Amino acid sequence: MTIRSAAGLEEPRLLVRGGNRLSGQVAVSGAKNSALKLMAASLLAPGTSVLHNVPDIQDVLTMQEVLEYLGAIVEFADGTMTVDTSGVQSQVAPYELVQRMRASIQIMGPLVARFGQARVAMPGGCNLGPRKIDIHLRGLAQMGATVRSDHGFVEVRSDRLQAVDMFLDYPSVGATENLLMAAVMAEGTTTLENVAREPEIVDLCKFLISMGADIEGAGSSTVKIHGVEEMHPAEHTVLGDRIEAGTFLIAGALTGGEVEVTGISPHVLDLFLSKLRSVGVRIEENTRSIKASGDIDSYKATDVATLPFPGFPTDLQAQVVVLLSIARGVSVVTENVFENRFGFVDELIRLGAEIRVDGNHAVVTGGRALTGAIVRCPDLRAGAALALAGLVAEGCTELRDVHHIDRGYERFEEKLQGLGAEVERAGACCSL
Ligand code: EPU
Repeated sequence: MTIRSAAGLEEPRLLVRGGNRLSGQVAVSGAKNSALKLMAASLLAPGTSVLHNVPDIQDVLTMQEVLEYLGAIVEFADGTMTVDTSGVQSQVAPYELVQRMRASIQIMGPLVARFGQARVAMPGGCNLGPRKIDIHLRGLAQMGATVRSDHGFVEVRSDRLQAVDMFLDYPSVGATENLLMAAVMAEGTTTLENVAREPEIVDLCKFLISMGADIEGAGSSTVKIHGVEEMHPAEHTVLGDRIEAGTFLIAGALTGGEVEVTGISPHVLDLFLSKLRSVGVRIEENTRSIKASGDIDSYKATDVATLPFPGFPTDLQAQVVVLLSIARGVSVVTENVFENRFGFVDELIRLGAEIRVDGNHAVVTGGRALTGAIVRCPDLRAGAALALAGLVAEGCTELRDVHHIDRGYERFEEKLQGLGAEVERAGACCSL
């Protein structure tokens, strides 16, 4: 049976046959949530910046379109991207691109800093719930910019941003990044307190420093940015994707196999790894790799609460719910970062999981044997989690709306196949 979208195009599907133990090594790709911001940061200086270890995923291609729309010349091959921003003429991010990928709004800070203006379509809500940008805008306004909104766009203007001391209401990843990029060429020294401390923020700071920025305190909750007159292009290698690493570690643990992820420092996943240990997963840490293995029958319930870094990452919440669905006992999973990140639960219940959602809590009754069914990916991480569930479900699981997975996982099924999973794209249902 062919699945057609409203536009009449064939929708890709992922077919997963459960039951195989996964084993082997998998190299993580560059982090999506760093690469996108580094691409935006390249707008700060005229000339050609070079980024290595850029993942070949849909969101990166969308950000490439955003930069090209502005007038940049972007080349991308074999994980290396060159961005020549000399010809950037436009400072507008249209609705079509922002609606496709929210991270498009990260061009706001760099455009105001370099050109004195940015006009960006307002992103609105998304599958994870309402996602405001008030902290981004309040910060830019405090730096002296005028912020106006009309016709679904927000417009920010300033001849030269002024340094400020600012305490963020919440350590928002996106707001921290936009304000950092805005502040690098502001007049004076900006102090940002209660900023996000995610490893991707540290990666962005490293790139900004190599472009000429003067930043102190990257990775702590207070950063000082001494404004400089101008920035120059630079070369940088994107750090490894901790969320991809966590996803494959859970795949290994779930199937009672042994999976080693390489190209990642265990310290960026400290709390996540400690939670896996509480479940009963064996974890071995090396300087640049992590191995997970375990015996499914020994797994037990563990409570998890998502929080900004160094807390448990919200981007691994859906995957851990799958693991807790097979661990014995009752676990409570609390989502503190997004308002609506349990959209996948009803799909997981279709596979046989027993989960009750109450507000931002999910009560997971584990020890369930899952069985394959047709499920829909509601978003990127939930899509990956449902694929993981398929690995342990009896029979075949068919994932629809897999374009969500393609936004953020490079060669997802190929990497799973390399570990021994039976996964294939489209084809006849359950030909596996
Ligand atoms: N928030 C506000 N006001 C703001 C900004 C954020 O209320 O001005 C709220 C949001 O509504 C949300 C919470 O704060 O409830 C967290 O938002 P944050 O700004 O920290 O997240 P983000 O920058 O929009 C990035 C990642 C997400 C990841 C979060 C949290 C990118 C492109 N996206 O989003 O990644 O979940 O940080 O770590 O970096 C994913 O990769 O699947 C993904 C969703």
